[in-house]
Amino acid sequence: MTSLPEGVQWIPVSLHADARGELAAFDRSNLPFEPVRIFVITDVPNGATRGGHVISCDEFFWIRLGRCRLSICTGGFRTSLLLDDPKRGVVVPAGSFLELTDFAPDTILTVMAPQPYAPGSPRRPPRLPPRRNQPLPAADPSRRFAGQRTDIDLAIARVFESGTFILGPECAAFEDEFADYLGVRHAVGVGSGTQALSFALAALGVGAGDEVITVSLTFAATALAIEATGAKPIFVDVDRGSRCIDVAALEAAITPSTAAVIPVHLHGFPAAMPEIMKIATRHGLAVVEDCAQSHGAALGPRRTGSFGQAAAFSFYPTKNLGAAGDGGAVVTNDPSVAERVRRLRNYGMDADRICVGPGINGRLDEVQAAILRVLLPRLDEDNATRRVLAGQYRSKLKDAMLELPPHCDGAVYHQFAVALDQRDAVRRCLIETHGVESAIHYARPVHQHPHFFRTDLSLPVTEQFAARLLSLPIQGEIAAGRVDYIANALVESIAACRS
Ligand SMILES: Cc1ncc(COP(=O)(O)O)c(C=O)c1O
Repeated sequence: MTSLPEGVQWIPVSLHADARGELAAFDRSNLPFEPVRIFVITDVPNGATRGGHVISCDEFFWIRLGRCRLSICTGGFRTSLLLDDPKRGVVVPAGSFLELTDFAPDTILTVMAPQPYAPGSPRRPPRLPPRRNQPLPAADPSRRFAGQRTDIDLAIARVFESGTFILGPECAAFEDEFADYLGVRHAVGVGSGTQALSFALAALGVGAGDEVITVSLTFAATALAIEATGAKPIFVDVDRGSRCIDVAALEAAITPSTAAVIPVHLHGFPAAMPEIMKIATRHGLAVVEDCAQSHGAALGPRRTGSFGQAAAFSFYPTKNLGAAGDGGAVVTNDPSVAERVRRLRNYGMDADRICVGPGINGRLDEVQAAILRVLLPRLDEDNATRRVLAGQYRSKLKDAMLELPPHCDGAVYHQFAVALDQRDAVRRCLIETHGVESAIHYARPVHQHPHFFRTDLSLPVTEQFAARLLSLPIQGEIAAGRVDYIANALVESIAACRS
């Protein structure tokens, strides 16, 4: 028999049946409190949940008919009980977080408590506004969280009960689990993907006077992270087929000042890592992979993040593995790089809290780490869903007047970006006529942002993609079952803009 957390206990209920029917007897001496409030819950719609809050007094749950599942987090322990036996009920102590799920249609559940119902208690998270008749979003992390709310709430409750909010057991456990998942030796949780990139570069010795080669078809953070180390970003063009760094352009851009290269696995498609590693080795360059969009992507048996001397991940909420706030990680096989990143993220301090080098406050907090631990085991399944949806888009759009994304078995489709003419007009028509949101990654290549602008730099393939790429909804919770609708809407929008 599994042991119950302290304060949770089963209480027998006497059932007396005779020709006149059945009687359930609640003997006051069996209950740990005098019931003052009795709730009877019936007619719970299919899939609905109840609870989702911390209870302010002891409560007793007894199922008369049907079944439901009671998940409890109390005193740092978590348990899940199936309530399906009218011959016993369960007492849950005050201060527990609980959630009721999996109701059978005919369920009758009775809840007794020693205090009257007080307005404002129990405490509930605010409800999100209804989504009916709203446009289909391009991405929406809250829909991903919704499917995992019980586990996420329990994980957050665990952090609050532990009383440790920074650099505690959740961050350490997530680092181990993420490193295992990627097949690397070390992962170090940091405050964002941008910090992960600059910490990785700095830990590899990149700094003032160095050049770092990267792409311009990326989020500006890639270049800003290079600048944060004191080094200078050097932009090269992308390959038309892969949309990732053009390896010939990379080699041509190497100078005596080049210290490192950052390939970006754009939209979840792995860059040409074997070729990049060969060039880097030949020229003695460090490689930091920008994996902000490629959680779980692979080239053959190896996941992105395991090729370079280090790699940087972002856990921004919309990422394939996204937290409920900012977060990031540096991964590496080199223990000395991992050690340097650990110091950089924590004020340059060693284990005795002595400042022994440069550093800032750049840590992954316990709440985000606990949430990421809930989501990491689902990442492969989510990525597989994205691949299925991408396959559906491909077959629906194969004859459309557009360019499909590259084909790669190990891609994880952070975006499904098609390239097309009159992109902005088509995008407007998609939302205004069909209620489908789309996104642009990235409208302006980094070398054309005023901060990085150079008159003498032209990157024709990058510039064409920046003018033509349009990202369609690909997140499973949004696009599943709707690919036909979205693809038809796109085809109609293209036709409308051409006529
Ligand atoms: C390619 C790329 N690099 C770096 C980053 C920066 O990550 P963060 O927003 O977590 O700082 C992002 C985030 O969107 C990104 O897409």
